[in-house]
Amino acid sequence: GNFPVITVDGPSGSGKGTICSLLARELGWNLLDSGALYRLVALAARHHGVALDDESALVVLAAHLDVQFEMPANQNEVSIILEGEEVTNSLRTEECGSDASVVAALGPVRDALLERQRAFVSAPGLIADGRDMGTVVFPQAQLKVYLTASAEERANRRYNQLINKGLGASLQAILVDIQARDARDMNREVAPLKPATDAISLDTTKLSIEAVLAAVLDQARHKG
Ligand code: C5P
Repeated sequence: GNFPVITVDGPSGSGKGTICSLLARELGWNLLDSGALYRLVALAARHHGVALDDESALVVLAAHLDVQFEMPANQNEVSIILEGEEVTNSLRTEECGSDASVVAALGPVRDALLERQRAFVSAPGLIADGRDMGTVVFPQAQLKVYLTASAEERANRRYNQLINKGLGASLQAILVDIQARDARDMNREVAPLKPATDAISLDTTKLSIEAVLAAVLDQARHKG
C-alpha cells in the first residue's frame, strides 16, 4: 500500500524513541522501532551461542527472527517475545544496544532485515524510528526528521532514566559508551547514521520533549 511514512533518525539518546511513540499515539499511526530488530538479532545470537562476528550465522538469525510484538491489555507498552520468551527488558540494556551496533555494521544482516521493516507500512501511516529510515529503508517518506543532541546531554538523559528506575549507573561510563556507539554508527561502511539530504534536523539539547513533539507535528501538518 501507499501509506504515508514519517522517518525519525538520530544517534542513541537523542529522544527518538520517546518522540516516536508520542507521534504514533498523537496521529494514531503504527510504529516501527527498527533498533529493536537489531537488538533482537544480538540477543538471538547470545541465545544460540553465535559470535558477533559470525556474519553468515547472524544473517540466518536475522532472516528467521521468530518474534512477536504483543500489546497486553491494560498496558501501553508492547511486550516483545523472542522464540517464545519475553525479552522486553533484556532488549533495553546498554549491553544489548552495544551488541546491536556491532551486528548492525554488517551489510548482509541489514539486507536480511530490510523487507521485514518495509512490511510495517500499513494504514493509516507509519512512524519509523532508527538510523537509516530516511536514507535507506524509506527513501520516499513524506517527512524525514533527524534528531541530535550533544553527547553529554544524551548521556545525562540516559543516566537519569536509569537512576529513576532505581538502577545504578555511572555517568562517565555512559558517556564513553555513547561516544563509542556514535563512532560505530556514523563511521560504518553500510547505511551509516547521517541525515537524509531532504531531512529536517532538530537539535534537542535544550528542547523539552513537548517542544520537539510540537515542532515535528507542525512539520507533519505542513506536509500532510
Ligand atoms: O535505537 P537503538 O539504540 O535501539 O539501536 C541499537 C543499535 O542498532 C544502534 O546503535 C545501531 O547500531 C543499530 N541500528 C541501526 N539501524 C537502525 C536502527 C538501529 O543500525 N535503523
